[in-house]
Amino acid sequence: MLLLGCTSSFTLSPCVSLSPSLSPHPNPNPFLLSRPSFTPIPLRSNQPLSLSKSLPSPNATNLFVAASAKAEPLKVIISGAPASGKGTQCELITQKYGLVHISAGDLLRAEIANASQNGKLAKEYMEKGQLVPNEIVVMMVKERLLQPDSQQRGWLLDGYPRSSSQAAALEDYGIRPDVFILLDVSEDILVERVVGRRLDPLTGKIYHLKYSPPENDEIASRLTQRFDDTEEKVKLRLCTHHENVDDVLSVYKDITVKVNGNVAKENVFAQIDAALTHVAEQRKVNSGSLAA
Ligand code: AP5
Repeated sequence: MLLLGCTSSFTLSPCVSLSPSLSPHPNPNPFLLSRPSFTPIPLRSNQPLSLSKSLPSPNATNLFVAASAKAEPLKVIISGAPASGKGTQCELITQKYGLVHISAGDLLRAEIANASQNGKLAKEYMEKGQLVPNEIVVMMVKERLLQPDSQQRGWLLDGYPRSSSQAAALEDYGIRPDVFILLDVSEDILVERVVGRRLDPLTGKIYHLKYSPPENDEIASRLTQRFDDTEEKVKLRLCTHHENVDDVLSVYKDITVKVNGNVAKENVFAQIDAALTHVAEQRKVNSGSLAA
């Protein structure tokens, strides 16, 4: 791990570093944080499927009902350090699951592009790698979450919440995800990913000069770089991340799935896909049980 000169501690959250052998309450869920493995997590038939101990266990009757019941759409939060791959995974997740992708960073950049008052203020904070004030971010995200498309198709919230007060605001509004995905990436990799990142302004697709190069010269010629994607600025963003990450994790620790983000994007997605498939199946079973 790089030492970036933050004043805050760089230790991971206690729940992140919890090893199954040390845990006083070993978690039976195959996807929860204590899993140390960096490989995609297989579903095993002898393991409990529930993410919540309070869910009723399936039986033959409610499994039958589940087949015809329509589950509520999925609600997912994806989290991780700057350049851990949130946006990249969101592209893959939305392709497969059809969720509405809501990125706090993208919403803020849209405000900046519109030269709105909020955008001007937000840019001052983003240039320093600091969190934009809640007065701007909280309502912006909440309103997007409550739009009809998010409610009907389900949502994938990226880069929010980033502080305990932002998490508390969601809880106050009764907005709670089904699963909290945490991308775990080592810091030397994060810096390399930031400085090599490029964006296609036409399609919105995320590239990396080394790991995900543009498909042709035409695309390469129009790629842009984000104003906060310098080595100097990413170090500030990482400090902000470390100051807040434990507080946010503590709110969602019972539904957190830790994913190894150090591997190729397809392998990262395989881990997320397994976890989301599991949650979606569990929701179907659960809604069927309630309907029965
Ligand atoms: P935001 O835009 O959310 O930035 P971030 O959290 O720093 O995350 P990034 O968008 O930089 O990275 P990512 O994780 O999406 O990675 P990506 O997939 O692009 O926020 C920007 C700023 O806005 C914040 O600093 C803050 O000021 C403000 N802000 C945002 N939310 C806020 C909130 N809630 N409250 C207050 N302020 C807020 O990947 C990065 C690169 O790596 C790409 O080039 C990609 O191709 C490559 N890559 C991805 N995955 C892999 C892989 N597996 N292998 C190899 N390369 C990979």
